[in-house]
Amino acid sequence: MSNIDLSINFAGIKAPNPFWLASAPPTNSGYQVMKAFEAGWGGAVWKTLGVPVQNVSSRYGAINYRDTRMAGLNNIELITDRPLADNLREIEEVKKHFPNHAVIASLMVESKKEWFQIVKDVENAGADGIELNFGCPHGMCERGMGSAVGQEPEVLNTIVQWVMQAASIPVITKLTPNISDITDPALAAVRGGSSALSLINTIKSIVGIDLDTYAPYPIVDGKGTNGGYCGPAVKPIALHMLKELAGHPEIRNTPISGIGGIETWRDVVEFILLGATSVQVCTAVMHYGFGIVREMEAGLRQFMSDKGYSSIYDFAGKAVPNVVEWKHLNLHYKVVASINADKCIGCQLCHIACDDGAHQAIALPSNGSRVPEIIDENCVGCNLCSLVCPVEDCITMERRDDGSKTETWAERTVLGKIPEHFNDPRGGGVGHFVPEPSAALNYKRKDRSGRK
Ligand SMILES: Cc1cc2nc3c(=O)[nH]c(=O)nc-3n(C[C@H](O)[C@H](O)[C@H](O)COP(=O)(O)O)c2cc1C
Ligand code: SF4
Ligand code: SF4
Repeated sequence: MSNIDLSINFAGIKAPNPFWLASAPPTNSGYQVMKAFEAGWGGAVWKTLGVPVQNVSSRYGAINYRDTRMAGLNNIELITDRPLADNLREIEEVKKHFPNHAVIASLMVESKKEWFQIVKDVENAGADGIELNFGCPHGMCERGMGSAVGQEPEVLNTIVQWVMQAASIPVITKLTPNISDITDPALAAVRGGSSALSLINTIKSIVGIDLDTYAPYPIVDGKGTNGGYCGPAVKPIALHMLKELAGHPEIRNTPISGIGGIETWRDVVEFILLGATSVQVCTAVMHYGFGIVREMEAGLRQFMSDKGYSSIYDFAGKAVPNVVEWKHLNLHYKVVASINADKCIGCQLCHIACDDGAHQAIALPSNGSRVPEIIDENCVGCNLCSLVCPVEDCITMERRDDGSKTETWAERTVLGKIPEHFNDPRGGGVGHFVPEPSAALNYKRKDRSGRK
C-alpha cells in the first residue's frame, strides 16, 4: 500500500487527503479543527461565517430507527454565533500549525458590500478556499439567505459573480437539495464562474411531533420549526444529486465535494465513484467524534490497494457511466430468488413479504419443514424477499437469462414494439400468474403455495 497517495488538489485547494469536515458544529472553533487535523482529517470547512446570530436552545431532533440512534438528524441551528474577529484569528492560528491542510471558510452574508468585505477578511486570515452557503433551509432563508439563494438560480449566479470578482482563492458553491432539479442551481454556479461545487446541505424536514404537547421536535418552549435533515438517512438523495452533476456535460469538469450521510470508508468510496473528489462529514463526527477518520483512511487505502489504484483520481467517477435512464436498461435480463435452506431460520418473512407485497412467488412448505420454496415461474426478480430476509446471503438472486439478448425500452420504442392501449398484449405482466381474488378469502385454510 506504500505507493498510495491520498493527497488531493481540489480546484486548487490542496489537502493531504480527501476527508474534510463539513461546515457545522465540529468546525465551530480553532480548537476543534486542530483536534480534527491531529486525528487525521485533511481539511475543514469552517462553520459558516457572517453577521453573528442568536441561536435557540433545544436545536436538534433525530430519527432513532429501531436500534440505530440518529439514523437521521434534524437541526434548527443557524450560522456561527461567534464574532468574525474571533473566527478569523483562529483560522490564522490553525493555518500556522497546519499549513498543508485545507481550511475553507464558509460564508453567508447579504449585500454585495458585505460579500466583498468578508471575502477579503478570510483571504487575509489565510483561508485556502471559500465555500458559499446557499443551503441552510431554516432561519437564514427567512432572511433571504441560505436556501433562499440556492433555490433562485439567477440570484445565486449574481452572488457567485460578486464573489468571483472579489476572490483570489478558489470558491466552492454549496448547493441546497431543497429544489426539484439540482442541475439548475449547479449550472448557475458554474456559469457564474464558481471554481467547484459541493452538495448536499440539509433537507427541509420535520422529524416528529410530541404526542403530549403536539409540538414538533426540537421543541422550543412549546413550538418548533422545520429543520435541516442529514445523517445516514440522506445518503441516497446526496448520491443521486451528485450523479446528476457528475454526469452533466456542462458541469462534469467542475470538481465536486460530496456531502450527505458519509460515515464509513465504503460511503467515501461510493461518493468518489460517483464523481466526488473530496468528501465532507458532519453528522457522523457529531455522533462518534473525529476518530472515525482512521477507519475511513484505512478502509480507503485497503480498497485502493485491492483494486490497484494509487490515487483517488484513478477511480473518481467510474460509476457515473453505469447510471443510465430507465429506458436504457436491458429488458431481457432475468433474475430469480433462491433460498439457501442451510442458512434459513424459518421465519417465513419472505413468504409474507412476497405474498402481500409482491408476486405470490414464495410458497410455504407442506412437508413439515419451515423453509419456504420459491416458485420460479411466478418470481419477477424484484429482490424484495432478499431485502427482508434477516439472514445475510440466505436469499440470493440468480441470473436465469443466458445473456445473449439485449433489448431496451428505447430500442423497443424505435421498433414500435411497446404497448399502446390499455389492453395491449405487449404489456410485461400479460400471462403472469396472479391468484384469483377469492383465493384471499380462504388463504389460511387452503394450500398456500400459489402454484398455477
Ligand atoms: C447542527 C448542524 C449545523 C450545520 N450548520 C451548517 C452551517 O453553518 N453551514 C453549512 O454550510 N452547513 C451546515 N450544516 C450542514 C452540513 O454541513 C452538511 O451539509 C449536512 O449536515 C449533511 O452532511 P452529514 O449528513 O454528514 O451531516 C449543518 C448541519 C448540522 C447538523
Ligand atoms: S426470510 Fe430468510 S430466513 Fe426467513 S424464512 Fe425466508 S429465507 Fe428463511
Ligand atoms: S424476488 Fe420478488 S417476486 Fe421473486 S420471490 Fe422474492 S419477493 Fe417474490
